[in-house]
Amino acid sequence: MSIPLASPTSTTPDIMDELRRATASSHAGLERALESSGLLSGPPGGALLERFYGFHAAWEPAMAAGLGDDALFEPRRRLALLEADLHDLGRTPAELARLPRCIAAAGLAAAPHGSLYVLEGATLGGQVIRRRLHARGTPCPRYFNPYGAATGAMWSALKARLRGATTMEGRAAMTAAAVATFELLHDWLRPVLGEAHDRAA
Ligand code: HEM
Repeated sequence: MSIPLASPTSTTPDIMDELRRATASSHAGLERALESSGLLSGPPGGALLERFYGFHAAWEPAMAAGLGDDALFEPRRRLALLEADLHDLGRTPAELARLPRCIAAAGLAAAPHGSLYVLEGATLGGQVIRRRLHARGTPCPRYFNPYGAATGAMWSALKARLRGATTMEGRAAMTAAAVATFELLHDWLRPVLGEAHDRAA
């Protein structure tokens, strides 16, 4: 008697579940650190946005090259939004040019889909931040709400893309890049989170 073979889809876990599971503790750690810093509970002071600026300034060019897909990545760039947010807070272009860059973020583009998962997921947390600030009558920085009403659609489109990308970027490489992205981002933000900072330059 022949034993029916299970179809690959019945045994292969969804990459989205794998990514969420692999990064759950990193997400919780970063979320906790952001919450306890108090940086997300009032009007943005600029220090956190400056740090995100330094991250995106190094990450975005490398990601654009690594993905090689402008249709996917161009609408997901957020450096210009950070520039506009920081401009609103009085930062000049010369001051932005002097901000430190997270050079190591460029290395994350070696497995770009895994890294994109993390920064795109932050737009979901951004909705929590947007609602909280709105309830206090404080405008939300553009950075935390890049897509407005299209947030859900952008996330759904990325999920479809990530599920299709597992053949070009191995599943292990994708989840490792997602974990590495969380770790580097957390390290990079530590100076403004008020936590000890001993890993990222
Ligand atoms: C830079 C900081 C953050 C990053 C990089 C980040 C990253 C992520 C990622 C990757 C996801 C997708 C999880 C999945 O696979 O479904 C996610 C979802 C989410 N995050 Fe964050 N996050 C950040 C900060 C926050 C903060 C501060 C909050 C809360 C205030 C938060 C709340 C959420 C919520 C509510 C979801 C949606 C969960 C769901 O709908 O299933 N995140 N975030």
